[in-house]
Amino acid sequence: MTSTMEQASGADSVITARGLTKRFGDAVALAGVDLEVRRGELVVLVGLSGSGKSTLLRCLNGLHPPSSGEVDVLGCRVDDARPARLRRLRSRIGFVFQQFNLVGRLSCLENVLIGALGRVRGPRYGVLSYPLSMRREALDHLDRVGLADRAFQRADTLSGGQQQRVAIARTLMHRPALLLADEPVASLDPENAAVVMDLLFQVSLEEQLTVVCSLHQVDLALGWAHRLVGLREGSKVLDRSASSMTRDDVMQVYQRVDPAQVPEPRTFGTGDTDRSNGAADIGGSAGLLDGSGARSA
Ligand SMILES: Nc1ncnc2c1ncn2[C@@H]1O[C@H](COP(=O)(O)OP(=O)(O)OP(=O)(O)O)[C@@H](O)[C@H]1O
Ligand SMILES: [Mg+2]
Repeated sequence: MTSTMEQASGADSVITARGLTKRFGDAVALAGVDLEVRRGELVVLVGLSGSGKSTLLRCLNGLHPPSSGEVDVLGCRVDDARPARLRRLRSRIGFVFQQFNLVGRLSCLENVLIGALGRVRGPRYGVLSYPLSMRREALDHLDRVGLADRAFQRADTLSGGQQQRVAIARTLMHRPALLLADEPVASLDPENAAVVMDLLFQVSLEEQLTVVCSLHQVDLALGWAHRLVGLREGSKVLDRSASSMTRDDVMQVYQRVDPAQVPEPRTFGTGDTDRSNGAADIGGSAGLLDGSGARSA
């Protein structure tokens, strides 16, 4: 029998959250958030520090069990899944963190290979302990992020931007069906932040990846996302197509906004389906990519 969640969300839906609430003791981190993300969408979460962005991302990959509400991710009901099912779900989700989380003493290539650990049996020590096909695949991913020439360099000798690019290559090695990124460029200067976001944009385009990413940089968010979702004190206060918004619209999220005034989300698929077109519109017409938001192509 088809569940209410399945009826409510289309076949194209990758994420459906209904009334997602997360409490930590008396503190309410998420207060009844509804969210729908469709295949191939690039959604950016914005909001003040403490508004619930990281908590939402963690509820989506099952790291935080919701206190109440329903969450369906990649066809898995996260809110009532058993640990084994959650582990299987997480094996299909790539996660990019602010702090890269590379193993500093290992080479870039071995760090990328770590992304394939879920596909091999038993522990691995050293690059040569992985099958040749995986080593080639890892090198291809490093090439894709422009760092093939650093394959055998220790990860902790790279710049922050380069380390994040290795982390993205590692995530691709994971072959994710969904990519979650929690402030992936917060530790980077504006130029490297734009390079890394551009890279994420390109790989998501090429891989047809659905991406949900939290960002503090409003210009980057507007230049990069299909849709912006704003959180304030755990409530959703914004859910709109990026191409229909100005910087001032987004800044409203950082002020007091009545959650009852949240507009209906715009339909994804009517004008935003082609990401390259959408991106060109956003960058071209809005003129929002001043400095940190500039995309190279
Ligand atoms: N493990 C936890 N235990 C207790 N409270 C928590 C925990 N994780 C988050 N919170 C609280 O939940 C609220 C939302 O936190 P969250 O980290 O999701 O915010 P955020 O929007 O990601 O902030 P930032 O932009 O600073 O990363 C905050 O009040 C925070 O203190
Ligand atoms: Mg956070």
